[in-house]
Amino acid sequence: MLDNPNTMTSFWMPFTANRDFLREPRMIHSAEGMYYTSSDGRKIMDGTAGLWCVNAGHRDPLIVEALQRQVEELDYAPNFQFSHPQAFELSARLTGMMPDGMNHAFFTNSGSESVDSALKIALHYHRARGDASRTRLIGRERGYHGTGFGGISVGGIVKNRMYFGSLLTGVDHLPHTHDLGRNAFSRGCPAHGAELADDLERIVALHDASTIAAVIVEPMAGSTGVLLPPKGYLKRLREICDRHGILLIFDEVITAFGRLGAATASDYFEVTPDIITTAKGLTNGIIPMGAVIVSDEIYNSAMENADGPIELFHGYTYSANPMACAAALAALDSYQQNDLFQRAALLSQPWEDQLHALKALPNVIDIRNLGLIGAVELAPRDGVPGTRAFDAMKRAWDAGIMIRITGDIIALSPPLIITEPEIATLCQTLGDVLSDLP
Ligand SMILES: Cc1ncc(COP(=O)(O)O)c(C=O)c1O
Repeated sequence: MLDNPNTMTSFWMPFTANRDFLREPRMIHSAEGMYYTSSDGRKIMDGTAGLWCVNAGHRDPLIVEALQRQVEELDYAPNFQFSHPQAFELSARLTGMMPDGMNHAFFTNSGSESVDSALKIALHYHRARGDASRTRLIGRERGYHGTGFGGISVGGIVKNRMYFGSLLTGVDHLPHTHDLGRNAFSRGCPAHGAELADDLERIVALHDASTIAAVIVEPMAGSTGVLLPPKGYLKRLREICDRHGILLIFDEVITAFGRLGAATASDYFEVTPDIITTAKGLTNGIIPMGAVIVSDEIYNSAMENADGPIELFHGYTYSANPMACAAALAALDSYQQNDLFQRAALLSQPWEDQLHALKALPNVIDIRNLGLIGAVELAPRDGVPGTRAFDAMKRAWDAGIMIRITGDIIALSPPLIITEPEIATLCQTLGDVLSDLP
């Protein structure tokens, strides 16, 4: 069946060039640690931690064993009006890793659901306090917040928005911070662009603060090609939100759980938002789960201002599913026992050096890095943008590495267990691919 393109059309693949894939499938059979094995028996280094989620590497024994134990005991329990101890244990562990004053977790099943939940919680917060005119949501150009209607509305990717009608109303966008003219080949956060946060003042002047509920940004925009915050930008955004009573949401679906060498980007940048969205690394990718972490102020306000016994009319059948809780608890154990956040911090320098060594290769117009994230931006081919990186991805697969692409940007985010020699292999293999790429 798998070699018959006619039967394979039964799977409509997400965010994929389906017709191209059926002609040239890239199939994965198994995985262990840093590596996949392809269906044709080749070892492929995971340069992207799956989709930015397998931070502890594949099939981490701690997580595998925890899931085996869990399924023997409790497969499913509802969390509407009932619960189970792991949900409370996980909330305590998770919020213990969050910035001070963020002590409450609401569970979802994905980053998209975390984002939609966070936006709803922000609207609910203002309304419950009697500030019901605060309904506007401010996102950012080139932001990615998943694929729910909330997420695509505050997100800033034209293709994710243009086909899907009028989206949420009352949304505005900050400008993105990607500025190759001033910041190309920066190491770490770029020097120029903190003033782009001031655009929030323009948006406030346009709509009035009394109509704005929240601003949502990724502290580091991953999915649109690793767009790093200019130095000072996030602090400035926090200050402006504070000045106008606007909630600040950090979408940390990629950045939480060690990607930058700290538990969260909030921690790394020393800027505390009001709400943090997470998913991906929460369970090391093994079971779908997300979490929205909110400040004491938001949680207490919901409890104090409730107009009936149920404080928030929101939730999912699989919120805090026991199997997902077990996976998450074991993932957090693994991060801690193997010191993976610290490891990412230590590896960030050799990572930066190896990546920036690719600078002189043909068509490379930028290289950027932070923590264990990197991007190589290629010049687009005339008239056919995106095809150069797409070809690079296919050739990289043939050469034994998995890379991720967005337009003509190659993004790298290996599992945090990567070794220095593996960093060298990953970067050198990518270098070989780019050297021969027309
Ligand atoms: C910042 C951010 N938010 C939300 C999402 C959506 O997550 P999911 O695909 O789990 O719905 C992603 C996924 O890449 C993301 O990077």
